[in-house]
Amino acid sequence: MSTDPAVRERRLVVASQNPGKAREIARLLSDWEVSSLADHPPVDFPEEGGDYAENARVKARTAARAIGLPCVADDSGLEVDALDGRPGAYSARYGGPGLDDEGRWRRLLEELGGTPPPRTARFYCVAALAWPDGESVVADGECRGRILEAPKGDGGFGYDPVFAPDAGGGRSMAELARHEKDAISHRGRALEALAARIAERDA
Ligand code: IMP
Repeated sequence: MSTDPAVRERRLVVASQNPGKAREIARLLSDWEVSSLADHPPVDFPEEGGDYAENARVKARTAARAIGLPCVADDSGLEVDALDGRPGAYSARYGGPGLDDEGRWRRLLEELGGTPPPRTARFYCVAALAWPDGESVVADGECRGRILEAPKGDGGFGYDPVFAPDAGGGRSMAELARHEKDAISHRGRALEALAARIAERDA
């Protein structure tokens, strides 16, 4: 049995400052009682500078220590084969600080301008759960697909309008219903694997 009462009671905090991600993580943890960063005193996160796993762990640990409850965070990104895996862990900062989500995917389409199909890519996610004592578990997930030549759909967030998952029947990620994205997404897979790790730890 877990010695942590919050985990026993299935209470945790979704430690993401990205509203699109936070929404998805909360949805994917629907059998937990989740709260968001907005429900707790502000957390001062350090700059990200490591690889996905390091960044996810640091975010989850920083929030868990500050809030005193188990916290889940993810670090994720889009890796485009024709760009040797860029923008990768820098996906949120691709193109510089002045761009929003649409500015970033437009920039990506420009950079890929002359690249013929198939413009293969994957979304990758590492999810971490950290406890207030600093202990943590991580798990990862990927979703393979292609970069479209033009955006489609208005669901999701980030690069979803220009990414067509292989399992999406030709639709972009932004055209999938929420439950469809959750079933095949990098984040859905990472959180499913994370839940299994937590269950093993608590067995
Ligand atoms: P970070 O994990 O906070 O460094 O940010 C990851 C970035 O990758 C996001 O800001 C998005 O630009 C991109 N990204 C990650 N997951 C998704 C997704 O599910 N859809 C679209 N873009 C994503």
